[in-house]
Amino acid sequence: MPEEPYEHHAYDVVVIGAGGAGLRAAIEAHNAGAKTAIICRSLLGKAHTVMAEGGIAAALGNLWPEDNWKVHFRDTMRGGKLLNNYRMAELHAKESPERVLELEQWGALFDRTPAGKISQRDFGGHRYARLAHVGDRTGLEMIRALQQRAVALGIDVFMELTVTDLLKDAGRIAGLLAYWRESGNFVVFEAPAVVLATGGIGKSWKVTSNSWECTGDGHALALRVGATLLNMEFVQFHPTGMVWPLSVRGLLVTESVRGDGGVLRNSEGKRFMFDYIPEFFKAETADNVEEADRWYEDKRNRRPPELLPRDEVARAINAEIKAGRGSPHGGIFLDIASRRSPEFIKRRLPSMYHQFKELADVDITKQPMEIGPTCHYVMGGVEVDADTQASVVPGLYAAGEVAGGMHGANRLGGNSLSDLLVFGKRAGEFAAAYVKSLGATRPKVSEAELSTATADALAPLRAGKAEENPYALHQELQETMQELVGIIRVEAELKEALERIALLQARAAQVSVGGGRHYNPGWHLALDLRNMLLVSQAVAMAALERQESRGAHTRDDFPMTELSWGDRNVVLELKTPRESGLPALATREQPLPKMPPELAELLEGDH
Ligand code: FUM
Repeated sequence: MPEEPYEHHAYDVVVIGAGGAGLRAAIEAHNAGAKTAIICRSLLGKAHTVMAEGGIAAALGNLWPEDNWKVHFRDTMRGGKLLNNYRMAELHAKESPERVLELEQWGALFDRTPAGKISQRDFGGHRYARLAHVGDRTGLEMIRALQQRAVALGIDVFMELTVTDLLKDAGRIAGLLAYWRESGNFVVFEAPAVVLATGGIGKSWKVTSNSWECTGDGHALALRVGATLLNMEFVQFHPTGMVWPLSVRGLLVTESVRGDGGVLRNSEGKRFMFDYIPEFFKAETADNVEEADRWYEDKRNRRPPELLPRDEVARAINAEIKAGRGSPHGGIFLDIASRRSPEFIKRRLPSMYHQFKELADVDITKQPMEIGPTCHYVMGGVEVDADTQASVVPGLYAAGEVAGGMHGANRLGGNSLSDLLVFGKRAGEFAAAYVKSLGATRPKVSEAELSTATADALAPLRAGKAEENPYALHQELQETMQELVGIIRVEAELKEALERIALLQARAAQVSVGGGRHYNPGWHLALDLRNMLLVSQAVAMAALERQESRGAHTRDDFPMTELSWGDRNVVLELKTPRESGLPALATREQPLPKMPPELAELLEGDH
């Protein structure tokens, strides 16, 4: 091994990320007998999953006995504009009830119905009230229960450790290189199986609901080691993030506010969503105020337009703001005060009540909230086998937001937490089985791979390079993505974004940060920037390739959803994984897996 005094560890399965998917994967791998470790950049319990507020979508049928996996499958596919990997959507719809009940057995305390069953709330695009919830703190409760389970099982957790590269041996995963945030010292993990559970990419945009860890690490690690990404053009803008004060711009305002009766109004006080109901949803959406209000009494028939899928609502808000009917701070109004009692609001939405009171001095039981779209979730991610979550690189698995396919062109709210549980479990199970199948023939971390990865990680600390500041580059990237690769896209702007990203990549290669390795946030950001730039390039390239509008991808120059684009994914691959210079990403179009007729039939019916 090179001179560097590496700390060494050996495991069967290493899980990167301690959110819902990572914890669930680690529990399953451990239970299957694999020696398992979890690595997280942050502290255990501080995963971005805690920011998922509204609930876990699962067809438990507690409020609506008519609900079942078939309806959930149909809603998910329709929400994803039929671009979802059908098998993932099927597994997700079938298995999420079991995963929720299991979580309850592990100690998660869900809100209850008067009959004592797990309570379920309404969310956009779901035919029935389906989200198992804990007030508006569901993600937090999920992490609490999973974390307790993982700790009780004695799974090793490495906190405040950041992975810089995955390492291969003869095409298979052999381990990874990471550094301690505090000391900057390197750690080598020998592990034949790695599960990526690294979450999202939102930190490349200026206005985002994502936490600081969401820098697309997993997406970039996967690309650099030879895995493929798909659906990267589909980035979800949650309709409701805070717009004021500026310091918290983008912070999530849960869809539960609308699920529990909140409505959207413009500066004229008009409930404008009635003007934006698309043809496709007319049958399920109330088209007048009286009918929408009746819906609250009889949820079976019609839904209020505020609960259209997120892409529809975000575009409508965007259009109202652009038309000059926005709120004083550039958003729109979300009003629950005039529709629900203060007691109801405080009981169902305690976090929202405190969030607005403490951060914006707004009492949401009396006043409307000012909200606007915020970059929230990437539907795209690592291309995986639907059943096993295996990527095309032997030994590399992905689950949760970093994996692509499940949500197609647009994710329904609440389907993320259930995705984490269903596919986290599967990834852990199949990663452990893969390691068992290897027997004694385990891949080894090579000196050459380790040296290259170490040199790449230390590059920003080398003296004598041009003075480029990672903070300035990050800000420029965020402005580029916000302005040119946002809710509405157009060819010229996407091309301009790619030119700007290429320039930023060239400048990032010249970044030189002061100081040493010991707790050096400038160095950490320089490494994150490498990932953010690569992933942003992937998003802009895929968005340029898809010449239609579908789900979260809206092209002003191709405003229609085209039948001819309905059967293809845009897949991205890195052609020069280790070459210095600009990353050579390539796109190709790939047919969707063919759906069996018995599932295709479910999409038509009204179950
Ligand atoms: O609005 C929310 O509570 C977010 C949930 C989700 O993205 O699934």
